[in-house]
Amino acid sequence: MTPPSIPAAVAPLVGQYLDTAVTALAAEHGTPLHVVFPQVFADNLREIRTALDTRAVEHRIFYAHKVNRSRAFARAAFEAGIDIDIASPGEFDNALAAGFPADRIEATGPKGESFLRRLITTGVTVNVDNLWELERIGQLAERPVPVLLRVGDIPGTATSRFGIPLSHLTRAFDILDAVGSRMMLRGLSFHLDTADARDRLRAVAACAVLLEQAWSRGFEPSVLDIGGGLRQVFTADATGFDTYTRALRESLGGRGRRMAWANAAFGYQVEGDTVRGTPVFHKYGNTVPPAAALGELLDTPVPGHRRSLSALLSDNMLQLWLEPGKALVDRAGITVASVEFTKELADGTILVHLDISRDTVTPADQEVLVDPRLVAIGPPPAPEPVGVFLAGRLCLERDMVSNRAVRLPFRPRAGDLLVFANTAGYNSDLSAASAGLHPLPPKFAAARGPSGFVVVPDAEYRPVEEESCARTTASPN
Ligand SMILES: Cc1ncc(COP(=O)(O)O)c(C=O)c1O
Repeated sequence: MTPPSIPAAVAPLVGQYLDTAVTALAAEHGTPLHVVFPQVFADNLREIRTALDTRAVEHRIFYAHKVNRSRAFARAAFEAGIDIDIASPGEFDNALAAGFPADRIEATGPKGESFLRRLITTGVTVNVDNLWELERIGQLAERPVPVLLRVGDIPGTATSRFGIPLSHLTRAFDILDAVGSRMMLRGLSFHLDTADARDRLRAVAACAVLLEQAWSRGFEPSVLDIGGGLRQVFTADATGFDTYTRALRESLGGRGRRMAWANAAFGYQVEGDTVRGTPVFHKYGNTVPPAAALGELLDTPVPGHRRSLSALLSDNMLQLWLEPGKALVDRAGITVASVEFTKELADGTILVHLDISRDTVTPADQEVLVDPRLVAIGPPPAPEPVGVFLAGRLCLERDMVSNRAVRLPFRPRAGDLLVFANTAGYNSDLSAASAGLHPLPPKFAAARGPSGFVVVPDAEYRPVEEESCARTTASPN
């Protein structure tokens, strides 16, 4: 039996690109490569803005640059009039190169001494991660530095290494008091590593109490920053995802055909024929689009307040700040690999060797649970679905691009392309290693113009106006 299919959700523009232009790009530049689609980014942003505007929520959106190294996305954010969240000197440089002035930049995450020194001279809003940072800004600042305090260790939410523990906020207010006008408290923030709306609302409730304390001490914070965390939609067929995971569990429990490579258990606990727990790939099953999840969050009562988040914000004249990363790049990037060869093991298992390594398309601990699209080079053979494992290019046993059996419409041939959809949200850029002296895959930006797709090296992307050819250029970034 071939494994069930899990079709990937593909934005219409990306679908059109795959149908008409991807083979030409691969032929011209070789593989592997990444392609990003700033117009899909703009569509995602439009939906998030609509969710906020229909509820009249006063807001600012900061694109979380860390989700992807792309300069084209940073430029798309700039052109769309939103702001940017940077978490490293390199991202800061990219933001400046995209045109962002300091008052449209927020610096998040833990910052070392040199990054901090640079930030405080610029007018960028510093989202303070810890008391050391706060004290250091107080010692170094020569002009007022706008700051947010990131709150961590919020009761009822998962342990986190980030933020100022809630119980230390009084000390933070004391430091701000002592420093006086050299720091300006703009507001409070949190970012949770979960998609659970209840956790987020608990954090909002905790921040509401802290904001009262800040106001009563004479500070004038007017921002509540709820970070990122809006999930992506990877699969076009939630039923296919469920069918696959059921079959996988059966297989791990010793029933049916082998679907897992070696000892892979995908985060499940397997004891004999019993399989329990939450798999590492659960994000791939999400079906709620980010804008809908945001709308629901805004409409839900905040614990202890008997009113929705959007009402709480407007009643307190608070501006909502968001730092979406993966939600903005949802379905806005693909990774293109080539089949080097296929090989059959003694038990009939088919291995498809690719010219990428696992971490080109996924952080190592995660398994991609949507199927790549097989693009035939030359006339495709008659459809004959097969289950295969995808092997990477590193000479390491563990470099399997898939540790699960993947359904393909036919047995691929050397030179055929495998296109991984929706890789822009951390999948392509979080851990891509340069082991084996392989260069990192180049990145291109594709935009649909009046007469076809315009494809340029990522760093050279400009919004498409009257250009009219499906041009590609030679030296990507
Ligand atoms: C402080 C902060 N804000 C925003 C984000 C972006 O989160 P997401 O991509 O889940 O929207 C992150 C991601 O780690 C983060 O650390």
